[in-house]
Amino acid sequence: MSSNTVAEFAAELNKPVSLLLEQLAAAGVHKRGGADPVTEGDKQALLAYLKAAHGHAGQERRKITLTKRSTTEIKQADATGRARTIQVEVRKKRTFVKRDDEGVAAPAVAAQEEAEEAARAAELARREEEARLQAERLRQEEEALARKRREREEAEARAAEEARLAREAAARERAEREAAAARQADAQAAQPATDTPAAQTPANETPTTPSAPAADEAAQRRAEEQARLAAERAAEEARARELEERRRKALAEAEAIRAMMAQPRKVLVAKKPEEPKPAAEAKPAIKGTLHKPAGTPARSAGGAAPTAKKEVKSEALSSSWKDEAGKKKELKTRGDAAGARGAGGWRAGPKGKPGRSDRDDRASAAPAVEQRALEVHVPETITVAELAHKMAVKASEVIKVLMKLGQMVTINQSLDQDTAMIVVEELGHKAVAAALDDPEAFSEDEAVLYQGEPVPRPPVVTVMGHVDHGKTSLLDYIRRAKVAAGEAGGITQHIGAYHVETPRGVVTFLDTPGHEAFTAMRARGAQATDIVILVVAADDGVMPQTREAIKHAKAAGVPIVVALTKIDKPDANPEKVKQELVAEEVVPEEYGGDSPFIGVSSKTGQGIDELLENVLLQAEVLELKAPVDAKAKGLVIEARLDKGRGPVATALVQSGTLRVGDVVLAGQTYGRVRAMLDENGRPVKEAGPSIPVEIQGLAEVPLAGDEFMVMADERRAREIATYRAGKYRSTKLAKQQAAKLENMFAEMTAGEVKTLPIIIKADVQGSQEALSAALLKLSTDEVRVQLVYAGVGGISESDVNLAIASKAIIIGFNVRADANARKAAEAADVEIRYYNIIYDAVDDLKAAMAGLLSPEKREEVIGMAEIRSVFVASKIGTVAGCMVTQGYVTRSAHFRLIRDNVVVYTGELESLKRFKDDVREVKEGFECGIKLKNYSDIKEGDMLEFFEIKEVARTL
Ligand code: GTP
Ligand code: MG
Repeated sequence: MSSNTVAEFAAELNKPVSLLLEQLAAAGVHKRGGADPVTEGDKQALLAYLKAAHGHAGQERRKITLTKRSTTEIKQADATGRARTIQVEVRKKRTFVKRDDEGVAAPAVAAQEEAEEAARAAELARREEEARLQAERLRQEEEALARKRREREEAEARAAEEARLAREAAARERAEREAAAARQADAQAAQPATDTPAAQTPANETPTTPSAPAADEAAQRRAEEQARLAAERAAEEARARELEERRRKALAEAEAIRAMMAQPRKVLVAKKPEEPKPAAEAKPAIKGTLHKPAGTPARSAGGAAPTAKKEVKSEALSSSWKDEAGKKKELKTRGDAAGARGAGGWRAGPKGKPGRSDRDDRASAAPAVEQRALEVHVPETITVAELAHKMAVKASEVIKVLMKLGQMVTINQSLDQDTAMIVVEELGHKAVAAALDDPEAFSEDEAVLYQGEPVPRPPVVTVMGHVDHGKTSLLDYIRRAKVAAGEAGGITQHIGAYHVETPRGVVTFLDTPGHEAFTAMRARGAQATDIVILVVAADDGVMPQTREAIKHAKAAGVPIVVALTKIDKPDANPEKVKQELVAEEVVPEEYGGDSPFIGVSSKTGQGIDELLENVLLQAEVLELKAPVDAKAKGLVIEARLDKGRGPVATALVQSGTLRVGDVVLAGQTYGRVRAMLDENGRPVKEAGPSIPVEIQGLAEVPLAGDEFMVMADERRAREIATYRAGKYRSTKLAKQQAAKLENMFAEMTAGEVKTLPIIIKADVQGSQEALSAALLKLSTDEVRVQLVYAGVGGISESDVNLAIASKAIIIGFNVRADANARKAAEAADVEIRYYNIIYDAVDDLKAAMAGLLSPEKREEVIGMAEIRSVFVASKIGTVAGCMVTQGYVTRSAHFRLIRDNVVVYTGELESLKRFKDDVREVKEGFECGIKLKNYSDIKEGDMLEFFEIKEVARTL
């Protein structure tokens, strides 16, 4: 060290001389002024003193405090419109304290823990063994007791038997004696009457007189014996009961110990003193828990089991302390001081505050130490206040984050899911997009609305199978209706939903179309159902859509009941069909499978009762249940735009009860149920689980297959619908753009691709979907069907305008154009085609596409010529002198040069001459001069084959 005086030393340390003098004095080194010399010893004394004063004597530092300050500015216009700049200063302070036990080397802690745990495990094992032995002992005792009881019972039985024998013997004796007396009396009958009483007396007295004392004694003995046995039995029973009780307890204990040992280690160490979180703070909406290291007790922060299961977002700080439970437990945290959530660990920070009540006072006092990450389920729309509540922060914090994102909101304003999720992530929590019916996304009182006591509900049975195998006819027979007869082209094109009262309860049937175009409808049918009736015509067997139906049923995991229809037909062969189905892994019960096979006829009614019986049996096995007394949820099976009634949806209620007046959210649309009709068009007021109804009152036509649910609040339903529609539009837009890019690529690689733009309008959603799919499938490499728009409802002027803009043709399926649309279409020459059978539309479109195909080019050989001589003219080049040996040759023909039966060259003619004149054609048997375009390597004896290329219109 270079400093020699106090003043120099002070300068070196950057301290005032007076302060240094004071400190030196305190350290026991007395100096009078700055000019006094300081020795190395003095400096050491000062150092030792300072270390001691700061509590670090001989130790490294135990505590570090980090402070961080950041300032930002918010520019904001106030109420008068003047721009203001607000300075925001954020101060953060973190204190890291090293505790004593930190000194213990981590491996040592681990080893100690391990040893402790091993000891604990051994102890548990010992206790389990003891309990087991105890149980065994008790069992043996009990057995002995049972043996004794058995012996006693046998003895009793023996005694009873003896008594019976004795009684019988006595009776026999008495009878004999009576008989003897009678005989005596008979013998004395001839004697004088005075004898009679004397004769009678012994006869009366015989049974009692000799045996009376003995019998009394025996009876008494027996009674005594019985009383003794009874007392013994009672005592034994009491003892057995006690033993049994003890055995049960011992077994239960052994079981408990076993269970404890089977559980992960965390549970074993769980006996730490922290209190579980007070129940009042357990918000089911908040999913998440404190950062916990692996070694800390796996107690759920909310005291409720499900919260613990959720994933915990890990933070760098907490993870770096992982596996060092000792460190964490000891740390005094704000939470501990407040007696709030238990488990140890660093935490706090304004966002991690446990409750609202005790938050504000501590927010400023407590330094931010760690973030507590929650898993927040964000529903499709949520108000600022609700979102704040879910994260247990003030609404103003949420508003602040949104402000940063450039969005000015009020506390009651709704946010869409995307925005809300960004806010959640901004606040350091984990955002999970919640489905609409996710109970996590509801507030507590909302979730209750959809729950209720589950009660048995009718089964939903979907009828599936190949086209024309008799599905609709079967249902018609069951329902005594005539749907099949009224169908266009005799095929089903919509999903039909009916409920039927049978003697054994209500069954809901969904009829699906069998035509291949309706795959989506069948898939939907299988999704909504409990049981599938697989219809296979006994005269036709397994067909492609039969296989598809089996796949759908298997994918949905529902039982299959096979109906072999048309069994009345003479060519019906149910055995063959059975074999075919076995090949598809649908095995009849009689072959050891689990699918009942029933031959039915919709003409004669044969087997239909048996079929219903089997379906109901399957339904009983499934024990279908749903709450009735709750708000309804379910599926949209079909939807259409009705001219008079507006959007109409066929809805299958799956749980709860749907009532007229309910606000329903269905896919991207919502509305208040104005009226409900059953499948026969009769108005109904409410529909319970498994009942299909047609509902009116939705704002727009929902998509078939959409889920619907009754909402408590119309405004919220509207918000969600709007949000979904917006999201759908944006994804659709993205898809379209992608499609365009794809097109560009495809067109670049495959040359020119022709497109056939179409607009589809259909009566119901399902048809529109099926038709779109079927028509889009017609696309080939050369002609692509471009679906400009597909919708439900009549053809309107705007559809025609769209068609004009996109040069599309309009296909109306079971719908017609209104007057304006017709006029507009005529004026602009837009083609509108109407169909009511799906494959007609497909066939027509095929033809239309064929018209767009570039015609096929075919070669047609027109003649042959032999090269007889080769001339080389200086100006013209090489000319072949030929003889046409077959057919003819034209000036525009193509040729193939053939040498020794091998094609050497293919090309076109340059000139064709007869003598000196150019000619168009030379026929067989004539000579001619031919100059080949760009080719001169010809020899005498070569052959020329001439052909023309003809264009042939193609079909698809
Ligand atoms: P898609 O819905 O178009 O797939 O047809 P589907 O399976 O509903 O068939 P549908 O009920 O329309 O019947 C097709 C044809 O089979 C009709 O002509 C019926 O008359 C006839 N058919 C249906 N069931 C029977 C039956 O049990 N016996 C006889 N003989 N004919 C039947
Ligand atoms: Mg049908």
